[in-house]
Amino acid sequence: MKNFIGFLVLIITLVGCNSSHKTKDTYSSTDKSSAVTEHPGKKLMEANCYVCHNPTATQADRIGPPMIAIKKHYINNETSKEDFIASMQAWIKNPNVEDAKMYGAVKRFGVMPKQAFAEKTIQQIADYMYDFEIEQPEWFEEHFNEERGKGKGMGNGQGKKQGMHQAQTNFEDLSYGERGLKYALTTKAVLGKNLMGTIQKKGVLEALTFCNERAYPLTDSMSVVHNAVIRRVSDKPRNPKNKANSEELDYINTFKKVIANNEEASPIVKEVDHKVKVFYPITTNTMCLQCHGKPNETLNETTLARIKSLYPMDKAIGYNINEVRGIWSITYDK
Ligand code: HEC
Ligand code: HEC
Repeated sequence: MKNFIGFLVLIITLVGCNSSHKTKDTYSSTDKSSAVTEHPGKKLMEANCYVCHNPTATQADRIGPPMIAIKKHYINNETSKEDFIASMQAWIKNPNVEDAKMYGAVKRFGVMPKQAFAEKTIQQIADYMYDFEIEQPEWFEEHFNEERGKGKGMGNGQGKKQGMHQAQTNFEDLSYGERGLKYALTTKAVLGKNLMGTIQKKGVLEALTFCNERAYPLTDSMSVVHNAVIRRVSDKPRNPKNKANSEELDYINTFKKVIANNEEASPIVKEVDHKVKVFYPITTNTMCLQCHGKPNETLNETTLARIKSLYPMDKAIGYNINEVRGIWSITYDK
């Protein structure tokens, strides 16, 4: 267990350090005010895409290509920013095998799960990706060159320069909402990585066992790591322990409206005495529907039977994509 937590701390350190570091070439200042001037697309990308496109995942741990690889496949010398934004919008609206440019990635990971994003969100992410250098994993340069069948012997060094060794973030310096969001997103990254990785390597039934046995303890260990209470709660829980209380139900309804309007959700922050509570929605993509979708459509019979036997009281089926499956409910001391 100790080792396990140690491992989590390592992950958090990596995730944390990456998601916060300022693009070196552009923001030289290290004071807090530079966070304010940060491009909005960077945060949106970290919140919406890094679960699967995280630059810190090792080659073996990946569940999707890093963003830098996407950038290199989508942008060449002739690509204008408008072209790039348009092709990102098109992909997000309809990820499919025929239109995919990254054949290797599709073969390895399966086609990207479909999830609705606000057009403005994608526009800002693409704008950021186009104009700024984005983080790349250490292994990337070499791998990319190998893939292109050239440039043996270069690489590596370049990757390192890009800032994998930035100082660790201090979450406590962030605003209350931002800090809660980091707790949620780092937990989501750990859960999401394990879940997608298991589906990709071992199939849905094995992944179901993973969720059944590990989702709760993993979320709990993240609470220990962050010294916060981190919970995933739902109005239609699978595990009765994850049932939302009345306050949480209110926020679930608030977020349902935001998501239905295709707007970008921001965390709800409440201060009570010496504690801060932060709430943030958990939405569905096509991948989730294999275990939370409509029976005999996206949710097959075998999976459903296994769910019923593990969770006789299950309420968490019948979902479509881009629905609020629940919320992160996070409490920490001021
Ligand atoms: C649930 C996991 C997941 C999330 C979240 C996700 N992606 Fe992906 N994405 C993938 C996978 C897996 C691939 C590789 C397979 C493929 O190309 O379809 C991919 C590939 C891509 C590609 C390349 C498509 C191609 O082959 O031409 C683009 C562009 C992309 N993602 C953009 C995004 C953006 C932008 C976000 C955030 C708004 C995002 N993705 C969020 C899993 C995800
Ligand atoms: C392989 C099957 C599987 C997939 C895929 C899956 N889940 Fe779940 N999910 C479960 C199981 C099993 C539980 C109950 C875990 C427990 O006992 O703590 C669960 C629980 C949850 C909970 C906690 C509330 C509750 O109902 O108990 C949320 C929120 C959730 N899932 C959201 C998602 C989202 C969002 C996705 C897609 C990104 C997803 N799940 C994909 C199987 C799955």
